[in-house]
Amino acid sequence: MKGYTSSALLLGPALLSQLALAQQAPNGVVHWGIQKRHAPNAPNRLLRRAGPTHQAILQNEQARGGYFATCAMGTPGQKVTLQLDTGSSDVWVPDSTASICNKGACDLGSFDPSKSETYTVVGQGEFDISYVDGSSSKGDYFTDVFNIGGTTVTNLTMGLGAQTDIAYGLVGIGYAINEAIVGNSHSLSSQYPNLPVAMVDDGLINTIAYSLWLNDLDAGEGSILFGGIDTKKYKGDLTRIRIYPSSNGYYFSFIVALTSLQAISPSGNDTLTSQEFPIPVVLDSGTTLSYLPQDIVDQIWQEVGAEYSDRLELAVIPCSKKSSNGYFSFGFAGPDGPRITVRMDELVLDLTSGDPPKYTSGPNKGQDVCEFGIQNSTSAPYLLGDTFLRSAYVVYDLVNNEIGLAETDFNSTESNIVAFASMSATIPSATQAPNQAAVTNRPVATMPSFAASSGFSDTGGSGNDGKDENASAGMPSAFGVAQMSVMGIAMVFAMVGSGVFVLL
Ligand SMILES: *[C@@H]1O[C@H](CO)[C@@H](O)[C@H](O)[C@H]1NC(C)=O
Ligand SMILES: *[C@@H]1O[C@H](CO)[C@@H](O)[C@H](O)[C@H]1NC(C)=O
Ligand SMILES: *[C@@H]1O[C@H](CO)[C@@H](O)[C@H](O)[C@H]1NC(C)=O
Ligand SMILES: *[C@@H]1O[C@H](CO)[C@@H](O)[C@H](O)[C@H]1NC(C)=O
Ligand SMILES: *[C@@H]1O[C@H](CO)[C@@H](O)[C@H](O)[C@H]1NC(C)=O
Repeated sequence: MKGYTSSALLLGPALLSQLALAQQAPNGVVHWGIQKRHAPNAPNRLLRRAGPTHQAILQNEQARGGYFATCAMGTPGQKVTLQLDTGSSDVWVPDSTASICNKGACDLGSFDPSKSETYTVVGQGEFDISYVDGSSSKGDYFTDVFNIGGTTVTNLTMGLGAQTDIAYGLVGIGYAINEAIVGNSHSLSSQYPNLPVAMVDDGLINTIAYSLWLNDLDAGEGSILFGGIDTKKYKGDLTRIRIYPSSNGYYFSFIVALTSLQAISPSGNDTLTSQEFPIPVVLDSGTTLSYLPQDIVDQIWQEVGAEYSDRLELAVIPCSKKSSNGYFSFGFAGPDGPRITVRMDELVLDLTSGDPPKYTSGPNKGQDVCEFGIQNSTSAPYLLGDTFLRSAYVVYDLVNNEIGLAETDFNSTESNIVAFASMSATIPSATQAPNQAAVTNRPVATMPSFAASSGFSDTGGSGNDGKDENASAGMPSAFGVAQMSVMGIAMVFAMVGSGVFVLL
């Protein structure tokens, strides 16, 4: 492939296997394997939350995880493993002299600029990113060689996290307009070509687009394909739906219209309702869980027998519900748009990597406690994170402002890669959802009868909505810390209210 350099030779076997994969890909696409792994965290970031021991929290983070890719930066290449994030738009790496790395927390790698012959500072002190979960990273913008998946971007602008409370870097691949520098300077002209744009500029891919296949919760890895789609990684049709701009008219993030939700189980089929329909949801790979409005989340919890734990500040559910036959069907872009099935085994997550905590009272007493994949949120933007995204094959087209959606083909080992033909070509093999103007037609808002509820119980009994105030007894309260690395602070001036749909 174009741009293969000797820096790749300095890398370990894991990356070399990705190089091999990359070389099989046709021209105009770049393929990376992404590994699901725990996200090591900064002690201070976590201590701020509540104060239990580091040990407990690291276990928690192990169970949680995100998607990471290994790459090399600089000349000669320094190996770093970075989290993939569709919700932000800067690539950044911790500086090897950052205090968090001096404390030994940067297991996934850090960058020593003094050891790179090609390092150039381009924005002193201008890199400053904050994430929705309150974490942040600050330092200089620099340019250097960036090598991943056997391809090289020769002069990528990146952030160097000199002061950071996150112990690993990110690969933000969202819209360039959502770069931290744009938000900080309040100036659109401060935009630089971020990774997907730089790949186009370097001739590696034809248009600013990529496809994400996260695969099963139980699988170790998924993949991202820049510049193309893999028709063997999904089932049924790939459907193109609109991305919505924020209320100031700019496309900042991957907001789509969630227009219906059904709960389906052996005992029945309920159409759930919300005052917020059509719900603006951001498809965000950097967020572990999904967050929807309170009214519909209350119905979801009632269907599955999840309950909110005041102590954990999180909805929990008996781990045994992983084997429930019930599932949810998410509908997008109006009555005729694509639907994605999300099964319960993708929605019930272990709280720790060790022995799970147990309910100490109530109807679930003695059962293992798990975290539920759909949580409540008070205001937009609502988020569909990894607990949703694993069930979907998602194509992000940043030129036509469209998302391609299809049901994932879990564990598919076959591959048929099709490149986007040219700049601004639409998503290959995809048809546009008909009648997207109908997104604003609200479904009739009647409360469901919860006929599906008893079928969500793995024991076949009735749905369990018994409240257990002490579900969390014995657990440190910081178990509720979900990872939300979404959106640089440019979002602060991009209002994402329910008004976004009236713009079109
Ligand atoms: C690298 O990119 C920076 C910022 O976009 C630019 O100022 C510089 O001239 C570029 N360097 C090379 C060698 O292309
Ligand atoms: C996918 O593979 C994982 C790990 O091998 C396995 O646990 C899981 O059940 C598989 N999923 C499906 C849907 O076959
Ligand atoms: C559930 O009900 C909806 C609305 O009546 C219907 O469109 C859908 O096909 C049903 N799904 C199943 C699996 O029965
Ligand atoms: C989530 O719901 C619970 C229980 O209804 C409530 O106590 C909590 O404040 C809600 N959290 C958010 C963020 O809305
Ligand atoms: C919950 O735990 C507290 C403290 O351990 C105890 O005082 C209370 O009675 C328990 N409540 C229930 C409903 O078991």
